[in-house]
Amino acid sequence: IHKSVKLNTGAEMPVFGLGTWKSQPGAVEKAVEVALKAGYRHVDTAAAYANEREVGLGIKASGVPREEIFLTTKLNNPDQRNPEAALEASLKALDTPYLDLWLMHWPAPMTTDGKADKGHNWLDTWKSMEKLYQAHPDKLRAIGVSNVSKKFLDELLAIAEVVPAVNQIELHPSCNQQELVEFCVSKGISVTAYSPLGSDASPLLTNPTVEKLAQRHGVSPANILVSLQANRPGVTVLPKSVTPERIVNNMRLVDLTEEEVQELFAIEKTAHFRACHPAWTGWGSIGFADCE
Ligand code: A2P
Repeated sequence: IHKSVKLNTGAEMPVFGLGTWKSQPGAVEKAVEVALKAGYRHVDTAAAYANEREVGLGIKASGVPREEIFLTTKLNNPDQRNPEAALEASLKALDTPYLDLWLMHWPAPMTTDGKADKGHNWLDTWKSMEKLYQAHPDKLRAIGVSNVSKKFLDELLAIAEVVPAVNQIELHPSCNQQELVEFCVSKGISVTAYSPLGSDASPLLTNPTVEKLAQRHGVSPANILVSLQANRPGVTVLPKSVTPERIVNNMRLVDLTEEEVQELFAIEKTAHFRACHPAWTGWGSIGFADCE
């Protein structure tokens, strides 16, 4: 298992970080504090999670110096027409002078009432992010994307001056996306796995294959699921929890054999429990991500 992944900027990104999607303002400050005190050095948030202020407070409460922490946040869909103001708002909410990584949350411009903003092209948003990155290296150490499919990455790479450092996507044994992961890594784009446990009330935690490997390695099923992503070259992983014991437990990573990795990947063929909307390919009929 790698401890960190080297980004195409040269920076090291710690292999596991605390996810904070759906972490409520009341709970997330403590979660971040507990995680950093336990040894996490990587925290992921987003303007859309409406918890950046509390994440910032948790960082302060931990006493861990800012420069020891890899901090990611994301540009919200309705802010794609004005990324600079959104960046300033995120820095202010997090009370930090810089971000280690700033991601475009979805390649999906939206209006403030949550509808598709079809008059704005997400590739132009990338152009704006590149300009901000080039103009403000003191504020942005890296830029990247999230929820981007291979089809959309092809479009992005055709126009990009700055290759995204990261593509953050949903990855767990019911959504392996191996082809996309390999494509990203081949282009120098690291991949970050969100929802590695399969999100809330995940059946993966009681999946027989996962339980068998957990017993074999003497760890919890969650550890196997986080370790699966950490065992993939070029991949970092964000288990989310607001429960202190789980936050601490989720740090325990184990080496898996290639055979074990394949056994876990095979779960996808039998256990599709979550609508697999892994990576954006356009405005689908439901207005959100379509499968590839
Ligand atoms: P909670 O935050 O209440 O502790 P994912 O990272 O795939 O999005 O999964 C997050 C979900 O998994 C949350 O509901 C979280 O609950 C739960 N969770 C996090 N860590 C563990 C664990 N070690 N064991 C069981 N459930 C966990």
